[in-house]
Amino acid sequence: MSRYADFYRQSIDQRDAFWAEQSRLIDWHTPPRQVCDYSNPPFANWFVGGTTNLCHNAVDRHLAQRATQPALVAISTETETERSYTYAELHAEVQRMAAVLQSLGVKKGDRVLIYMPMIAEAAFAMLACVRIGALHSVVFGGFASGSLASRIEDAGPVAVISADAGSRGGKVVPYKPLLDEAIALSSHKPAAVLMVNRGMAPMHLQPGRDHDWTALRAQHLDTTVPCEWVEATHPSYTLYTSGTTGKPKGVQRDTGGYAVALAASMKHIFDAKAGDVYFATSDIGWVVGHSYIIYGPLIAGMTTIMYEGLPTRPDAGVWWSIVEKYQVTHMFSAPTAVRVLKKQDPAYLAKYNVKSLKALWLAGEPLDEPTAQWISNALQVPIIDNYWQTETGWPILTLANGVEPQTARFGSPGKAMYGYGVKLVDEATGEELTAPHQKGVVAIEGPLPPGCMQTVWRDDARFVNTYWKSIPGRLIYSTFDWGIRDADGYHFILGRTDDVINVAGHRLGTREIEESISAHPNIAEVAVVGIADALKGQVAIAFAVARDASGLVDDASRLRLEGEVMKQVDGQLGAVARPARVYFVTVLPKTRSGKLLRRALQAVAERRDPGDLTTMEDPAALQQVRELVGR
Ligand code: PRX
Repeated sequence: MSRYADFYRQSIDQRDAFWAEQSRLIDWHTPPRQVCDYSNPPFANWFVGGTTNLCHNAVDRHLAQRATQPALVAISTETETERSYTYAELHAEVQRMAAVLQSLGVKKGDRVLIYMPMIAEAAFAMLACVRIGALHSVVFGGFASGSLASRIEDAGPVAVISADAGSRGGKVVPYKPLLDEAIALSSHKPAAVLMVNRGMAPMHLQPGRDHDWTALRAQHLDTTVPCEWVEATHPSYTLYTSGTTGKPKGVQRDTGGYAVALAASMKHIFDAKAGDVYFATSDIGWVVGHSYIIYGPLIAGMTTIMYEGLPTRPDAGVWWSIVEKYQVTHMFSAPTAVRVLKKQDPAYLAKYNVKSLKALWLAGEPLDEPTAQWISNALQVPIIDNYWQTETGWPILTLANGVEPQTARFGSPGKAMYGYGVKLVDEATGEELTAPHQKGVVAIEGPLPPGCMQTVWRDDARFVNTYWKSIPGRLIYSTFDWGIRDADGYHFILGRTDDVINVAGHRLGTREIEESISAHPNIAEVAVVGIADALKGQVAIAFAVARDASGLVDDASRLRLEGEVMKQVDGQLGAVARPARVYFVTVLPKTRSGKLLRRALQAVAERRDPGDLTTMEDPAALQQVRELVGR
């Protein structure tokens, strides 16, 4: 048996001993009494009885050895600034933020919503929350007021931390008006709003509710705020993600299990050590930002780089210039970003010395072979695909190079990671598919390993029913992805089983987009599907039925309504969710019982064969779609 096969076996067969060993990678205030309590499946409680703190593990525990080492470097090509904080400086800033939050009334167990661009204060905010036992809920800065309002409503934050503006491609995006609108839309009203003023957009501060970070920080310059020792099972944060139904789910994560899982992943998956430099190009609004911009690298005592800006501005060499300047050892990005760079002049890459890099990890969406091949040739380092989800917090499938160097296979994110009982199951019968090359739903046997979601925030029933009851006949976690496995244990992911689409690595629910479009006064009905796109992996396409189609007489009038619909989505959900096209049809393809034939619609939109259509009510419906997309 190979070293990794043996390691994996142990993690499954001697689960508790395996994770007891991993738990020594972090600091505990009180050691755990029990490794895993799985007496009430599918709810897993990891490291029961232990008390710890995420911020202690990410910051304080490194002070003795690496107080003067850079912990966080915040680079913005939007504002042309680079700010570097040593562990000692980060420690001081986080305590100031923690003291300010306490002065605003934030206590253990309270939620704090963070709606911020990629600036150092966002990292201080996250770490300050977990320091005092408050739960953060970071909302991606690209989301607009409707998305933000539903998250404020569900999380019920005591305080919101935001900034005057973000910037993208040189264009300033004011955040405060979106935040004010979101709070107005939500029935829950946060008591306090803390604003970081970057001097980029004018802000109106509402007296009594809104506070200026710079002014409050000045009152707490020399404060010490001790870490609150919390139970290992105390929730550290919620992070909202899309599913089949319109309403996003608050993925709730624990504290001890998450810290252990990230520390272990740094060692076994990323083969990283303290002092290494980690550059994840994601955003703190996504799970990659939580695990691999903030917590993972800091828990491991590395230097982490956060980046605000495009990969192509001022030119396509900017990321490689960062790699050279900071001697980045570990880089983490998404296939779309690489496809964007691939379209640029390769000379930009050749200009920089990237020899410090050990490997590049890519996640979030399928990695196509030409993209992998191109970047592999250009960088001359291993390109490692990894597959996971907001729900799991760390890779499910990849290579554990820290355990045993393994060769990547193009098109495959690799092998089941230790701790994950990955199975392929038949969607209809729930039966496990053990022979190679059989297509099934990627499922995970409970308990989910440490670091994975505990539940859906305030909705245990939704956690059980959504994730654990979708496979017939057995309680097993569904990833809602199709997959196959070859004879050597390498997996291949073949797309979602549900209505989630993946645009440029961003996970979006088609139902959410449909709800937003339906709110337009002249839209009677709409269906949104994801179709293949050479650059973004997938894009959303909407097929809409107008309430009053009498005005849709020519291309100009259709374009006008299409523009209005897109604006509607921009304003409610944000430009990330905007469909690439909105086509107007007179009828949507449905079964005689009124069910939308989504897969058929998607197939025709991708110019594929829609398959069996005998249940379709009106065959003309797909003909319209065919003609529209054919144009
Ligand atoms: O469909 C899978 C796809 O992205 C989904 C999870 O997205 P999110 O919650 O945003 O988490 C991203 C964490 C990296 C999955 O259910 N996905 C993620 N990684 C890959 C992938 N599809 C193919 N290959 C991958 N490497």
